Amino acid sequence: TTIAVLHGGRSGEHEVSLRSAASIMDGLRDVGQYEVLPVFISREGIWTLEGVRVAILPEPGIGGLYVLEGEKAGEVIPVDVVFPVLHGTYGEDGTVQGLLELARIPYVGAGVPGSAIGMDKILMKAGLLAAGLPVGPYLWFTVADWEENKKQLLKQIEEELAFPCFVKPANLGSSVGISKAYDSAQLEKAINEALQYDRRVLVEKMLTGCEIECSVLGNDRPEASVPGEIIPCNDFYDYSAKYLDDNSGLEIPAKLAPETIKKVREMAVQTFIALDCAGLGRVDFFVDEKTGEMWIIEINTLPGFTSISMYPKLWEASGISFNELLQKLVKLALE
Ligand code: DAL
Ligand code: MG
Repeated sequence: TTIAVLHGGRSGEHEVSLRSAASIMDGLRDVGQYEVLPVFISREGIWTLEGVRVAILPEPGIGGLYVLEGEKAGEVIPVDVVFPVLHGTYGEDGTVQGLLELARIPYVGAGVPGSAIGMDKILMKAGLLAAGLPVGPYLWFTVADWEENKKQLLKQIEEELAFPCFVKPANLGSSVGISKAYDSAQLEKAINEALQYDRRVLVEKMLTGCEIECSVLGNDRPEASVPGEIIPCNDFYDYSAKYLDDNSGLEIPAKLAPETIKKVREMAVQTFIALDCAGLGRVDFFVDEKTGEMWIIEINTLPGFTSISMYPKLWEASGISFNELLQKLVKLALE
């Protein structure tokens, strides 16, 4: 089986992708039964295989990487499965998935709708609410609403959500463009900042409790791992804490009551199904054991995947090793 591992990419999560892909390629090579083609995508969107430009062309039946330059220019390198190890826009959002659908090459992870909905925090919440799943209070608006009704929106946010609140661009991951606002001046600044990244912005009420994450694996009969907890609990888990520092920790399994764990796992699977995901997904929650409240924050359809990331760690704690997990994902892609 030849697996093209797409990594890098045009999103703000380029670096994270390089780290995830390094672990995944090591693991796939370790398994011994795959040929791994490392396909690097530059920040500008140029695809190369070991320094040589390649492309995927949507010509059904040929299925592979077209070599664009050098001695082998014009040749097609066949690919059985693509593993898009890309986080964020132009990778996790349905765009690459659409290209692979057109080329009829199987790939790991959610298809076009699941990927797109999972990347858009506004559509995701709408999908979760429609499925009767718990979502914290939020408001959303477009750049046009903001330009026309700034004062009214600031007032509405303050009244309905209160401070502090979180401001997020509708798309993007890894906390890029996200800020916490403690007053009206900060809120206005945060919204302008978020609008640098997207035409649509959402503002969320600050939720109490701890961030709990749960990994899901499967296609039509998905299963959930044991949940894990992000430490420190209740601090804003931003991009630098998540990926650049070493001082933020994971508690695996999460220290929660057995009934809470059961509920988290059920809701993780319900989320995966409601948003039409496939292969893998990590569902993030806020859980307040004092009040018994639980909210779904989001699903990540291509979660961070280094050997120390939450997604594979949770499976390891549930009895599936890193390399077994990769084998299952490849198998699910081919189903
Ligand atoms: N967006 C990053 C990679 C994550 O959620 O794990
Ligand atoms: Mg996330």
